[in-house]
Amino acid sequence: MTATSAALEHGARPARGRNVIAVASGKGGVGKTWFAITLAHALARGGRRTLLFDGDLGLANVDIQLGLMPERDLDGVIAGRTTLRQSVVPYPTAGFDIVAGEPAELMDTLERIGAEILPHAG
Ligand SMILES: Nc1ncnc2c1ncn2[C@@H]1O[C@H](COP(=O)(O)OP(=O)(O)OP(=O)(O)O)[C@@H](O)[C@H]1O
Ligand SMILES: [Mg+2]
Repeated sequence: MTATSAALEHGARPARGRNVIAVASGKGGVGKTWFAITLAHALARGGRRTLLFDGDLGLANVDIQLGLMPERDLDGVIAGRTTLRQSVVPYPTAGFDIVAGEPAELMDTLERIGAEILPHAG
């Protein structure tokens, strides 16, 4: 048992502050997006200021699963059209914010960046 799990078992609360929880796996379709959305709901309901950041560069779909069509997303940040702060979109229904990925355009942008940079690399 780790010190953290021992502390939690005895009722201690984790320190409040800025925490980053990464949800990732080497295998697709195992429930990362579902878990991340559910966790964001739970944290927001628990009074935590929560940002759900969809960093899936392959097939981002947090916005789709939430039924949102955000005007700003990660693609705009990578393409230099917006800042990361400007890409944050409120989701008032659940009380947390999101940064959405945009799969097709995002992949186009990354491919363009790769095409511009790779020919000049070592
Ligand atoms: N706890 C769960 N119980 C039942 N079904 C689930 C659960 N978690 C996820 N699913 C279902 O499994 C499928 C895959 O879930 P999800 O999209 O969250 O996976 P993912 O790991 O994000 O996939 P990807 O690698 O494609 O991004 C979805 O149809 C989702 O509704
Ligand atoms: Mg996913």
